[in-house]
Amino acid sequence: MIEPLLGEAGEARGWHLRAGGTSYVLALCKGRYVVHHHWGSAMAVDLPSLARLAAPPEGFGVADDLGDRSYSLNRLPQDYPWPLGGDFRSPAISAELVQGGAPALDFAYRGWRLLPGIPDWGGLPLPHDGGPEGPLEGLELDLEDGLTGLRLSLLYLVAPATGVIVRAARLENHGKEAIRIRRALSFSLDLPPSTGDLDLWATEGAWARERQLEPRRLGPGRLELGSRKGVSGHSSSPVLLLATPGTGEEWGEAWAASLLYSGDWILGIERSEDGGWRLQGGLHPELLSWTLAPGETFHTPAVALAHGERGLAELSDRLHGFAVANLLAPRWARQDRPVLLNSWEATYFDFDEDSLVDLAGQAAGLGAELFVLDDGWFGDRVDDKTSLGDWQANPLKLPSGLAALAGKVRALGLDFGLWIEPEAVSRKSALYREHPDWVLALEGREEAEGRNQLVLDLGRPEVRDHLLSAIVGLVEEAGIAYLKWDMNRPLSRVGSRTAGPGEARHRQVLGLYALLGSLTKACPGLLIEGCAGGGGRLDWGLLPYFAQFWLSDNTDPTWRAPMQDAASLFFPPLAITAHLSASPNHQTGRVTGLAARSRVAMAGNFGLELDPRRLTAEEAEAVRKDLSWYRSHRRLLQQGIHRRLGRPGPGGDWARLVVAPDGRRAVLLWMATPGRPNQGSVRLRLPGLRPDLLYTVTSPDLAGLGSPAIPGSELLARGLEFEPGPGPEPRALAFDLEATPLAGNSHG
Ligand code: DGJ
Repeated sequence: MIEPLLGEAGEARGWHLRAGGTSYVLALCKGRYVVHHHWGSAMAVDLPSLARLAAPPEGFGVADDLGDRSYSLNRLPQDYPWPLGGDFRSPAISAELVQGGAPALDFAYRGWRLLPGIPDWGGLPLPHDGGPEGPLEGLELDLEDGLTGLRLSLLYLVAPATGVIVRAARLENHGKEAIRIRRALSFSLDLPPSTGDLDLWATEGAWARERQLEPRRLGPGRLELGSRKGVSGHSSSPVLLLATPGTGEEWGEAWAASLLYSGDWILGIERSEDGGWRLQGGLHPELLSWTLAPGETFHTPAVALAHGERGLAELSDRLHGFAVANLLAPRWARQDRPVLLNSWEATYFDFDEDSLVDLAGQAAGLGAELFVLDDGWFGDRVDDKTSLGDWQANPLKLPSGLAALAGKVRALGLDFGLWIEPEAVSRKSALYREHPDWVLALEGREEAEGRNQLVLDLGRPEVRDHLLSAIVGLVEEAGIAYLKWDMNRPLSRVGSRTAGPGEARHRQVLGLYALLGSLTKACPGLLIEGCAGGGGRLDWGLLPYFAQFWLSDNTDPTWRAPMQDAASLFFPPLAITAHLSASPNHQTGRVTGLAARSRVAMAGNFGLELDPRRLTAEEAEAVRKDLSWYRSHRRLLQQGIHRRLGRPGPGGDWARLVVAPDGRRAVLLWMATPGRPNQGSVRLRLPGLRPDLLYTVTSPDLAGLGSPAIPGSELLARGLEFEPGPGPEPRALAFDLEATPLAGNSHG
């Protein structure tokens, strides 16, 4: 709900954005500054309380307002601060006149409006209305800088069920001269000094060890996360997660900001001189230099802001709820995902039609539903040095073509899926020979290769048109049900023949969204999985197009479990794919038991990344059983409420509890600390179960469970106790919990 707070003459004094247990309170200070006074737990706000909140904080500082020395901009929690005035903290915007340099920007409030629907946002993703959760409400506030004629409109969207607030800014040049934008963030926010200490839950990583979560206490100064790679990056998704010290899954206050963007980004936090915190984020300003001619408009990417007062669980429930209802394409939001077998680690580049049909047959025998042909099927591709861009079947490997292969796969009862890397082109390709000018490059500099490939300039409509017709052609020709959309290099030495380096990188991302928008419109039934050399581009900007993401090439369960936990803070588990792979693991060389590989993968959107022909008969039988168990629990595992019960970070027992929304069914997945001697019995409290129900606990891995049923209150308070017993390393188990009402409620 957006409630305007109006004065006696009907003039706006402030706005209260309230939904899903969260309040975001905006006010006008001195009739010209847009400030926020609260972002956190829901509260009541009326005009007198607003007046109390909006009293400008006193303090020593520069008086920007000559007539009033009682306040300083350096203490004002402005919603979109600018530089070169009296606010000496990091600004949200920086701009200059192309002729004549940097004037001191000085915006003043001009007006407000409620929005009738979700606006178009210059080709950038915004959330959509989420079905049963109800429509989003929208507010825009206008400010203007009189000297340059730059108009700033601040957008706010409120998601009803989750209380997620989406923010973005729009800049319009109403002046007579061109303006160069150097910095245009998506948001800025000040948490007050009373917030106290904060921990930043940041991740770091690289290819095959993506997203290692490392919470740390914040101190003085400014700390910035980000990517200059042109893609959101392996180390971190563009998300900022802050929490009060000691926050855990079920307790503590936490705030999250997730950018709806897939290119260069920053998210920063700095301590203000009053002991509060300024949070900011958006496009990476070092790499942006955008010329806005008179009459032109620039949109910043959006950010989604979520708050929780009951630990990471509540926060991530809200983030998942929003991502599912308002970001994922409605078609995929609540759709079970198929169990697939992906051919990459089974064959790499070495296959032909017969071997693929054999592999697909084996996959069908194990219970897979979709066969995905990974890299190597096109042009002359026999290794990673050639043929990207030539999206026709490799005549030596697949002489009868893709449609014939897909037909044979379908005859086995499987859908057919295909890998593609549309943004890339190999120098050794017909496409590059025909269109050498289609690649991103810097005038006067040699083109830079990464994994032997260049990047196509998606800012150019003719390049997007070519790719769209190539991909739609493939989908139609071969009846493709699923596409794995890969991108294996960061952007370096990037310029475009149609835009300078300060614009080309952002135009590339806009081009990607435009291409994906056209593709999803042309092929609405196509399931697209995003991949970027593993998890190199996992962000909320792509969620409307990619219904699921490949998290990492590392499927070693001891690495994968903490990666999945970190990703699951933001991404709904049905959008994160997780594959059961071979042992020894192809990335780490570690030998692990099948149960651990499989139980960890079941916490995500489960699939296979192995060659069934190399399984022993006993292993094949175990995999078959696992697939059948997963399929019968799929809806719960993919769409239930997830609780991370293990310690964050590598090491430590790992466990994931997944509870049905009505609390009547649950699954517990557990893996022991790898290599831990003298395991003994395990006890795990199971938050999220209902105290008024009695649960029958069984396990496909442990005999002798099932009776007597255990009261929910005991599982909540004392926990489930079990003896894992001996088994392959690391020991891992799954449990089923089925509820019946408590007779007479005597245990309640
Ligand atoms: C990187 C991906 O992460 C892998 O799964 C595989 O698709 C390769 N690319 C293929 O080149």
